[in-house]
Amino acid sequence: METTGHFLGTEGWPDGKIFGLLDRAHELKGSPGGNELAGKILAMVFFNPSLRTRASFEAAMLRHGGHAILLEPGRGVWGMETRTGVVMDGDAAEHLVEAAAVIGRYADAVAVRAFPAGEDLEAALADPVIGGFAAHAGVPVINMESARRHPCQGLADAMTIEERLGKRPSGARFVLAWTWHPNPLPTAVPVSAAINAARLGMDVTIAHPPGWELYPGDMEAVRTVAARNGGSVRVSGELDDAVEGADVVYAKSWGRLDLFGDAAAERAARTVHRSWRIDGGRMGRTRQGRGIFLHCLPIRRNVVATDEVLDGPWSVVIDQAENRLHVQRSLLLEVLG
Ligand code: CP
Repeated sequence: METTGHFLGTEGWPDGKIFGLLDRAHELKGSPGGNELAGKILAMVFFNPSLRTRASFEAAMLRHGGHAILLEPGRGVWGMETRTGVVMDGDAAEHLVEAAAVIGRYADAVAVRAFPAGEDLEAALADPVIGGFAAHAGVPVINMESARRHPCQGLADAMTIEERLGKRPSGARFVLAWTWHPNPLPTAVPVSAAINAARLGMDVTIAHPPGWELYPGDMEAVRTVAARNGGSVRVSGELDDAVEGADVVYAKSWGRLDLFGDAAAERAARTVHRSWRIDGGRMGRTRQGRGIFLHCLPIRRNVVATDEVLDGPWSVVIDQAENRLHVQRSLLLEVLG
């Protein structure tokens, strides 16, 4: 996750620089923006759908006088081969190597969203698409969610926590709660959220049923950031116990890694865990019943969390989504300003 000139994962940047991005994001939230990015172009390459990421990056560029180009491979843009060493006799008309280099000639930075696909966990964990763009674009590359990380989401998560709990809420309790979902989702969001809570010095609890352990290398990344910043990390297999006294409950589903690529088997394994859902009773167990509820969105109502939670006093998910805009304004001014 080293990011010389790129923004691929927050742990690739020094803590001080990340805190600087957060501090500036808080300041920017109160200002409409200026012309700092006049003449600058951000190319946004989406291999997967998005609402928040797409709209907030485009808005962030426009807020500061810049411009964003949207490219969706396979939808009005040539299908793109992302594997190396393949005979390109299938549908994809061009390779990432040329595409990334060409896009980099038109834009001052390239932002990429590419989730994992296929059945090979190790190949997905290598994050080949975002890594390929970083290798070939020739300009800074920003991760808009890859197999391993969603660093802009992680920054917005941290900013939202700071808004509610104060800057660097060391020792406050952050619970990452695995929740049931009909589909096996990537681990980029939960890992990025945990890393950034750890960076704030929080006591991080990761709650999930047995079998849904996060990738050991990612757990190591969370523990390393926690150790540097005075935080702690523990794992719990009991959701009610985990949320007891929590200051923050962050709901997120992710797929079981040992069943990666086998959605049917994964779905069958998780059916017994439908009760892993955040409801008013569980939020009532948080600190004085006033813990905050976070989710990256989109969220399936009454599956991941109940209406009572999302419409209740605990939820800060709309602020959290708004903060995507402000942390990305801060990031773009750093990378392009
Ligand atoms: N949280 C997030 O990344 O939302 P989108 O998938 O809508 O961009």
